[in-house]
Amino acid sequence: MRLFTAILFNGECKRGMAGVQARLRTLGRGSFTRAENLHLTLNFLGETAPSRVPDIERAMDGCDVPELELVFDHAGRFRRDGGDVWWIGLRKNPGLEQLHAELSTRLRSAGFKLEDRSFSPHITLARRLTLPVAPDPEWLMGRPFSMRARTVSLMLSERTDGRLTYTEIYRTTHESG
Ligand code: 2AM
Repeated sequence: MRLFTAILFNGECKRGMAGVQARLRTLGRGSFTRAENLHLTLNFLGETAPSRVPDIERAMDGCDVPELELVFDHAGRFRRDGGDVWWIGLRKNPGLEQLHAELSTRLRSAGFKLEDRSFSPHITLARRLTLPVAPDPEWLMGRPFSMRARTVSLMLSERTDGRLTYTEIYRTTHESG
């Protein structure tokens, strides 16, 4: 099973992201992330034996998931041959970084091999997008928006009939009080 951990978004947040996607669509053609697939990846686990899922769930449950205020305030791209990846980025968020670090440590202790590259929180909006002219970043972003997040999800990534589908198979939530 191809797995990753992520934070999912509410409808209001997805509408904000759809707004940025709509502006990108006016500029070029590419492969746009479907609204139901929008997410913030915490850890990419990759191909994983189903028997290891309980270990992932334990690592998630062991984390002190805080209530996070996520502020989406800039958009940008990763340059790629064959068309860039365009994303929305988050305002610096020490609570999110702490959660990512704690979950990574717990997963590594449980024997999972995670990538060493540094955490760069982003939400992929479009791939393989080639724009003749780079858009003005402020125009592209529009008004920043935010969301309170309290849940980390374990996601299954599958390709069904050529369609990329993400399914939440487990979640762990901030416990108040
Ligand atoms: P991306 O959007 O920047 O590609 C599911 O594939 C999620 O895991 C995506 O959010 C993807 O980020 C992320 N991811 C992180 N590392 C990855 C890797 N090595 N291969 C594929 N996806 C990865």
